[in-house]
Amino acid sequence: MATNFRPSPTFKFLALLLTIFQCTTTTLAQAPVPAPSGPTNITKILEKAGQFTTLIRLMKVTQLGDQINTQLNNSNQGMTVFAPTDNAFSSLKPGTLNSLSDQQKVSLLQFHVVPNYLTNSQLQTVSNPLRTQAGDTASDKFPLNVTTSGNQVNVSTGVVDTTVSNSIYTDGSLAVYQLDKVLLPMSMFGPASPAPAPEPEKKKKSGAQDDVPATDDGSVSADASGAVVFGSYLHGLSVGAVAIVTMLCL
Ligand SMILES: *[C@@H]1O[C@H](CO)[C@@H](O)[C@H](O)[C@H]1NC(C)=O
Ligand SMILES: *[C@@H]1O[C@H](CO)[C@@H](O)[C@H](O)[C@H]1NC(C)=O
Ligand SMILES: *[C@@H]1O[C@H](CO)[C@@H](O)[C@H](O)[C@H]1NC(C)=O
Ligand SMILES: *[C@@H]1O[C@H](CO)[C@@H](O)[C@H](O)[C@H]1NC(C)=O
Repeated sequence: MATNFRPSPTFKFLALLLTIFQCTTTTLAQAPVPAPSGPTNITKILEKAGQFTTLIRLMKVTQLGDQINTQLNNSNQGMTVFAPTDNAFSSLKPGTLNSLSDQQKVSLLQFHVVPNYLTNSQLQTVSNPLRTQAGDTASDKFPLNVTTSGNQVNVSTGVVDTTVSNSIYTDGSLAVYQLDKVLLPMSMFGPASPAPAPEPEKKKKSGAQDDVPATDDGSVSADASGAVVFGSYLHGLSVGAVAIVTMLCL
């Protein structure tokens, strides 16, 4: 008998099933991979606290979240993060965030990060101006002052004065304080600053909040990147199987 292998309909059907199965597992594998517990993760802390989705997104876009995590792991100075709530961001003048360049977004976020661990009481006695990751504390750049009256601690930028409303997290090396306003730096929002002239009216979704557009700046792909990597690993595994099936079919 000739050894010519002709796939029977049943075999073809099984091969098809197998292929479908491959596709299905690849899709399922794109569900979020649980993060391992390990070094301090600012994103995780903010997620747990809730009401910080805009800040989390900005941290992803600017990669400042990763920098904070790395710095926390690699230095013993610790860090202090002022975390504006979603409400704080949405009560900015419409278009404020969108009018910022990528570099300005980075600076804005860095302005909310102090490269030292400050307990609540240290915060109250710190000397002004406080140096943030944004750098230059000159009065027209990135000055940040802390003022206290009684138990109330305020941070002021010369543009914005707001109260530290809550201590969200503190572990001896990272302190996260909640703010109900975004700290707008002098360099970008002060009277002499050239920057954010409100952009000409952009087409806005109805009731759109001032927010980071999820599509424009890659935050969506950032979200999915871990899953995509995992997915393509599975895909790699399945390519072999598909190749075998294909060979058998020919
Ligand atoms: C930090 O936590 C976020 C959200 O839980 C997760 O997506 C991210 O992968 C974590 N980063 C690291 C370095 O573990
Ligand atoms: C944290 O620091 C340790 C030692 O300094 C290093 O081995 C490790 O890779 C770091 N982990 C991260 C996530 O940066
Ligand atoms: C911050 O404090 C410094 C030093 O006390 C002072 O010179 C400056 O005017 C203050 N700036 C603001 C915006 O409060
Ligand atoms: C703190 O800021 C609030 C506005 O958020 C203001 O009403 C209050 O006077 C400020 N207090 C201090 C001590 O600067």
